[in-house]
Amino acid sequence: MTNANSEKSQNSVTLTDNQSGQQWELPVIDGTVGPRVIDIRKLYGETGMFTYDPGFTSTASCDSEITYIDGDKGILMHRGYRIEDLAEHCDFMDVCHLLLNGDLPDSKQKTKFEHDITYHTMLHEQMIYFFRGFRRDSHPMAVMVGVVGALSAFYHDSTDITDPHQRMVASHRMIAKMPTIAAMAYKYSVGQPFVYPRNDLSYAENFLNMTFSVPAEEYKISPTLARAMDRIFILHADHEQNASTSTVRLAGSSGANPFACIASGIASLWGPAHGGANEAVLRMLQEIGSKDRIPEFIERAKDKNDPFRLMGFGHRVYKNYDPRAKVMQKSCHEVLDELGIRKQEPLLDLAMELERIALEDDFFVEKKLFPNVDFYSGIILKAMGFPTSMFTALFAVARTVGWIAQWNEMVEDPNHRISRPRQLYQGNTGRELPESFKS
Ligand code: CMC
Repeated sequence: MTNANSEKSQNSVTLTDNQSGQQWELPVIDGTVGPRVIDIRKLYGETGMFTYDPGFTSTASCDSEITYIDGDKGILMHRGYRIEDLAEHCDFMDVCHLLLNGDLPDSKQKTKFEHDITYHTMLHEQMIYFFRGFRRDSHPMAVMVGVVGALSAFYHDSTDITDPHQRMVASHRMIAKMPTIAAMAYKYSVGQPFVYPRNDLSYAENFLNMTFSVPAEEYKISPTLARAMDRIFILHADHEQNASTSTVRLAGSSGANPFACIASGIASLWGPAHGGANEAVLRMLQEIGSKDRIPEFIERAKDKNDPFRLMGFGHRVYKNYDPRAKVMQKSCHEVLDELGIRKQEPLLDLAMELERIALEDDFFVEKKLFPNVDFYSGIILKAMGFPTSMFTALFAVARTVGWIAQWNEMVEDPNHRISRPRQLYQGNTGRELPESFKS
């Protein structure tokens, strides 16, 4: 990385104040790949000015070695590996190890890592009472925000963020316990008994078993469904500085404990513009109902006066096909074939037709609005038997490793400071309190 104090004209830009004519030299930092970055850390001190960037569309909030996205080319890499390769040749535990530790595990490391995760999958028994406190019709994300936040009340031996060992234990705990919490939220919502984790199953198999098995009969885990579940976890594992990850980093920047930080990430993920999108895709497809109504909805999406948006289309970063969407589309077909429900799943047909029409429409082409990962994940999850309310909870299970890897990276960064953005104040500049308030 180029030093921020590098020589003047070589790696810097000049800022000119057109009012006063004053000029300042701002250093430019080069990453290993990707756009160059203007270093404005000293801007306020030197110029008395802030930058204005609501939504952070032009702001790098940190340096990171974890995930790289080239939105124009449709590239997503974790620690330098392409997502397509990871989805094809690795399992979720490999990807977790990669994100957390920087490298794919060798066989010895893999065995140890799987052991570390597996032996943290159970929840403190007392936590079951938390579930009982919720209404049965609570949204699983509401339950998850609460229960994950409450982990810090139970696991005091892993909340000291200055201790690397405690940070590692907290990381393993969260990756391990999240499927248990999500499955319990589901079981509670349908009134079935909780199913405890099983250490003889893989991460994905264990999650399917905790979600779908009942004590009354044997549950056979389909290898195709377990593979699809594992792939869904891989595809959602991390995605650079998105809203929930930035939320986790921001919460963590104050020194908050890791369980509280991840709970804040879950809260952010819940929104329909982020993790809630696959749920919204399904609702939208159900609302459209039949192929002949697609043009009507396309027109609504294009109408500036109509708030309706085509859910599952568009992305803040990808201005090309989301590489995860391609893998997900393939998985989607495999799952429907395995379950033999392609014909009974008219929503997939509808989704394909919607995709075809939108991709040929000038509005979507010009604005580079391609299907994103959520466009297909909702259909697969529905076919697998998950209710729509669980979709975002599954996303949270998968993204936990990304959040925790990013949080660890921030805590370990010697330069990290509390995140404290500034503002462009547009309000009143001083008002007299009305007399009636002064007595
Ligand atoms: N349908 C119709 N028009 C759209 C859509 C859409 N899905 N997405 C963007 N546009 C239009 C938008 O109206 C705007 O038009 P104009 O320039 O005329 O004002 C233009 O495209 C740019 O949109 P934007 O809102 O400025 O883009 P953004 O980067 O702020 O928003 C987004 C990105 C993902 C929030 C948005 O595309 C969207 O709301 N999509 C639907 C929700 C969705 O699928 N979200 C999942 C994101 S992927 C999962 C994840 O990584 O979390």
